[in-house]
Amino acid sequence: MTFEPYISHATIEARIAELGKEIVRDCQGKSPLFVCVLNGAFPFASDLFRACEELDAEIAFIRVQSYEGTSTTGKVKQVLGLTDKIEGRTVIIVEDIVDTGNTIQNLIDHLNEGRPSEIKIATLLFKPEALVKPVTPDYVGFSIPKKFIIGFGLDINKKGRNLNDIYILKED
Ligand code: IMP
Ligand code: MG
Repeated sequence: MTFEPYISHATIEARIAELGKEIVRDCQGKSPLFVCVLNGAFPFASDLFRACEELDAEIAFIRVQSYEGTSTTGKVKQVLGLTDKIEGRTVIIVEDIVDTGNTIQNLIDHLNEGRPSEIKIATLLFKPEALVKPVTPDYVGFSIPKKFIIGFGLDINKKGRNLNDIYILKED
C-alpha cells in the first residue's frame, strides 16, 4: 500500500483559519458548544476551536467508531457519551471526515435527544460521492473524491494520525 502527499499542512492551516472566520461570523451572540468526534477530529478541533477565540465557546468530546482498515463496517458504536447539557444550545459537531454520512447521522440523532437549539456540522474533509445519508455539512474544509486518505488525525489501523500533511492512497 502506497500513500502520496495530497494536502499540505500549510494548506490545511489556512483553510481552518477561513472556517474559523465563517463560524465566528455565523455565531455572533451565541455561545456554541463544539463537540469533537474522537479520535480522528482532535487535531482539526484543536485548530478550529482556537480559530474561534472571539466566541464565548466551549468544547466537549464524544467517541464513536465505524471503520476497520480501509472499508466501512457500516456499524456505528458509540463508546463515550456527552455529559454536557445541550438543551437550547448551538452545537457544532466537529468531524475529521464525512464519508457515507452514517456516523454523523447517528450523532445528530443522538444529540437531538438533548434538545439543542441547532446542530451545525464542521468537517475537515467531505466525500460527496460516498454520501448515503441526507446530511449537508455546514462547514467543509475540503471536498475530495471517494479515495482513502490518512494524516492530520485520519488513520489506517490506528497509524498515521500524527502526520502533519494529508496523504492519499495510491491506486495501482
Ligand atoms: P462515515 O460514517 O462513513 O461518514 O465515516 C466516518 C468515519 O470513517 C470518519 O470519522 C473516519 O473515522 C472514517 N473514515 C472515512 N473515510 C476515511 C478515510 O479516507 N481515511 C480514514 N478514515 C476514514
Ligand atoms: Mg471521525
